[in-house]
Amino acid sequence: MKYMGHKGKLLPVLGEILKCESVNARRVADPFCGSGAVSWFLAQSTSKAIFSSDLQSFAAARAAAVVERTIVLDADSIIRTWFQAARKVVNSIVVHFPNSSRSIQPDLTIATRIRSLVVRSRKFCHSVLPSLLDNLGGEFPMTIAYGGHYFSPMQALELDALRQTVPSSIAESNACIAALVEAASRCAASPGHTAQPFQPTDTAARFIVEAWDRDVWDLTAQALRSVACAHAQTKGKALVGDYQDCIRNLEPGDLVFADPPYSDVHYSRFYHVLETLARGFEVTVTGVGRYPPLSERPGSSFSRKGEAHSAARALVDGCATQQVSLVLTFPSEGASNGLTTADFVRLGTGKFASIEVYEVSSTFSTLGGSAASRGGRKACIESIACFRV
Ligand SMILES: C[S@@+](CC[C@H](N)C(=O)[O-])C[C@H]1O[C@@H](n2cnc3c(N)ncnc32)[C@H](O)[C@@H]1O
Repeated sequence: MKYMGHKGKLLPVLGEILKCESVNARRVADPFCGSGAVSWFLAQSTSKAIFSSDLQSFAAARAAAVVERTIVLDADSIIRTWFQAARKVVNSIVVHFPNSSRSIQPDLTIATRIRSLVVRSRKFCHSVLPSLLDNLGGEFPMTIAYGGHYFSPMQALELDALRQTVPSSIAESNACIAALVEAASRCAASPGHTAQPFQPTDTAARFIVEAWDRDVWDLTAQALRSVACAHAQTKGKALVGDYQDCIRNLEPGDLVFADPPYSDVHYSRFYHVLETLARGFEVTVTGVGRYPPLSERPGSSFSRKGEAHSAARALVDGCATQQVSLVLTFPSEGASNGLTTADFVRLGTGKFASIEVYEVSSTFSTLGGSAASRGGRKACIESIACFRV
């Protein structure tokens, strides 16, 4: 899954380091689990119980889908039942719009008319659909908040219908939500992440056409098939919460893998769409980005310049006090929250038996940077620092 700070590409090196550093640990924590890539890797390739957490519930749901399950799921059977229930919800809405090519499922073949098509789609989702959806019951957050913006009206309805009808078994529900989050992230008509949707300008129109044309069912099925066959060797746990709570549950000798934010912009600014989907409840949104109110968007002390240093101290001290080793990934320098790897090393010096830093070439997203640098990826040196008790 596309995610800011995703460590998937680093796993060939990072994974080996984590396996080696966790040899004597009973548990490994991934308290900033994000896309879940590292939690999934650890759960599948080690026999340790993995404890994952994140401030955002979609991230915890991604991790839970694999770390909490020790058996393979039958993806085809889940898809059959799940999609049937979701299609029923979609059909119960579509049936009210016989001329649905003008509203629910706009004709995307004429890109020159994209502006009026987008305006019409937004109006349809804001003004026409809500009263019908109210009568149907159930929650339709994607349609009400994001239909005609990040998603076509039909895509938004499909996402809502799928979210409403996830299976009731915890293991299946976790896998389905994880798959749905991935599908939504791949469909969203948004540059890079989901901070703002594309607008129907001459240059961006084709991106909207391309995104709105993506098939929610296919992408969800594809994602579910890959989640379903991944599972942990030992059952772990994934929770929504602060990294400090996750670390507090460890015992001496365990290992923490910490991949804290390096950006001075909160993750919730980029991923509110996925968060709304995972929560499954309607939200009031405002602005071009269709943001939920700040009070409903988790904020991180690592992304507040004035607090980042004390957050780093609390992380390093928390591990030392708990007598757990720490493997930290962080850009060697150039992070917009003002921290460097050297800051963490300074904070840990004298509190651990040894500290060793490896450096690897990487890139990081500049979406959280200044307007001039927004939208690209910047080459950087990423440090993997091992603090051993
Ligand atoms: C660099 S990303 C992690 C990326 C992840 N390792 C991956 O491979 O996808 C940092 C994550 O930390 C989370 N986060 C920020 N502050 C946090 C806190 N105080 N406690 C827990 N999670 C936090 C963010 O929501 C974000 O998902």
